[in-house]
Amino acid sequence: MKSKKLLAVLTVLVLFLIVSFFTEKNEEVKEDRPTVGVLQFVSHPALDEIYRGIQDGLKESGYKDGENMTIVFQNGQADQSKLSTMSQQLIDKQSDVLIGIATPAAQALANSTSKLPIVLGAITDPVSAGLVESNEKPGRNITGVSDKSPVEAQFDLAVKLLPKAASVGILYSSAEENSKYQAAEAEKAAKALGLTVKSYVVPSSNEIAQTVQVMSSEVDVIYIPTDNTIANAMQTVVNEADKTKTPIIPSVDTMVEEGGLATVGINQYELGIQTGKMAADILSGKSDPATTPIYTFETGDIIINEAQAKKLGITVPEDILSEAKLVGTGSD
Ligand code: TRP
Repeated sequence: MKSKKLLAVLTVLVLFLIVSFFTEKNEEVKEDRPTVGVLQFVSHPALDEIYRGIQDGLKESGYKDGENMTIVFQNGQADQSKLSTMSQQLIDKQSDVLIGIATPAAQALANSTSKLPIVLGAITDPVSAGLVESNEKPGRNITGVSDKSPVEAQFDLAVKLLPKAASVGILYSSAEENSKYQAAEAEKAAKALGLTVKSYVVPSSNEIAQTVQVMSSEVDVIYIPTDNTIANAMQTVVNEADKTKTPIIPSVDTMVEEGGLATVGINQYELGIQTGKMAADILSGKSDPATTPIYTFETGDIIINEAQAKKLGITVPEDILSEAKLVGTGSD
């Protein structure tokens, strides 16, 4: 009897030891493999391209998801409370590096940790968003890529394509810090070229269709900064503006593709590649966020939607066409 009991106790003990041995092993494996936590603000073609670039940028630097690194991806669906819970989840999942795609996502991450390194994925102006002390010396746990777009070049192109235009309406959302900054830049650039400027600020995506109807009857051109709320509703904007044949100058390639007329823009995929590489350098210990300057792009490509130009009755001068990257097939 006694020895049977002893045997049972021993068996339990041995089983316990085996189980704990394996669990410990697993933890060790997880420690070897770094985790990259990615928080994307919302889905729209530009941010989706940036995320695709991030994955490839990490890969080019030797970090392959599922092989020697794990990506945990979350999409906040433009919801502030989701963004903060997801930030916390990414931290709880023991991310070694966090990446925020678009300003509201980066701000949510920054509010959740001042220790873990955060890489900014295409943030218009990290300083005015309160994310870094300066672009040259970020100073804290945050560095990354800015997608500040070449606003002056965009307006130079706009007046070349639309020499008769006298007024421009700037469309953006009041909820986004990034857009306020760029809208102010746009106003300066447009005024310098002699255009009259009016801002149309929407509180949420619900007001976009009606606002674009009003704009289309009041201004000659619609300008859109890198605003996530508007980018997410680009189809609506194009549908409404098309009714009065009002041309749209957005600030990125993906929005031209969806029915904008033209822009000078930074390739969204390239923004992602650069973000992924910066995250890889932090993972491998090559760089420290506090002393790594924010990466900015000097110039952009000329992007034209020729089908949309035809639809609006606009002839694109040959010299511009020959330099441009052509995208899109029109908005219908
Ligand atoms: N710069 C934007 C931000 O800071 C994010 C962004 C990147 C974006 N590319 C875009 C927004 C294209 C609209 C369209 O939030």
